[in-house]
Amino acid sequence: MNKKVVVVRYLLVCALIVGGYTLSIGHVAASGSIGTQASAQPREDLRRFMQSKVHQEYTFLSYTIWHDHPLTPAKMDSIAASSVKIIGLSKELTVYVAIYKEQGWSNEDVKLFEEKRLQLSRVAEELNRAALRRDAREVHNFFTHLDSTCQSCHKRFRPDLQWL
Ligand code: HEC
Repeated sequence: MNKKVVVVRYLLVCALIVGGYTLSIGHVAASGSIGTQASAQPREDLRRFMQSKVHQEYTFLSYTIWHDHPLTPAKMDSIAASSVKIIGLSKELTVYVAIYKEQGWSNEDVKLFEEKRLQLSRVAEELNRAALRRDAREVHNFFTHLDSTCQSCHKRFRPDLQWL
């Protein structure tokens, strides 16, 4: 994937976070206490990131792999490209680990988040390779793994998310 795009995306996430912090600090200063507003903003950022980026790739992949038969070479290429995007997104998730640490996540939470983030990247790598090999069976197999990786992280942090 284009390095420029990755860099621009990374900068965008940074800008969002810096913006979020500035807003939070504003709230704290205004109310004179460390309230819920201060911790709500980074959480909103992660939710937006999940919705607009991670889930978008997931939706594309699930439609292409599960519902749009047959898996032509062109579709395999787009699956490979989408997997590369997910690898990039899982790198971007490190930003949130640092934020949540400061927001009071336990060491266990941080450890699990980091493990699942790396797992997402590894499974996306496998999916990428399977798609480049044009191996439809393995593409299905690794997409199922990807799906359960999303779920296993949400099970801890957002057990209410049952759409997958
Ligand atoms: C490393 C852990 C982790 C992985 C892996 C992960 N997520 Fe998430 N996701 C989260 C967390 C944490 C939240 C909740 C953010 C919050 O509400 O504070 C979340 C929230 C979401 C949300 C809800 C956003 C909202 O509106 O509340 C969607 C959608 C989502 N994730 C999609 C996905 C998909 C699709 C995948 C797999 C491709 C995935 N996530 C993988 C951690 C993860």
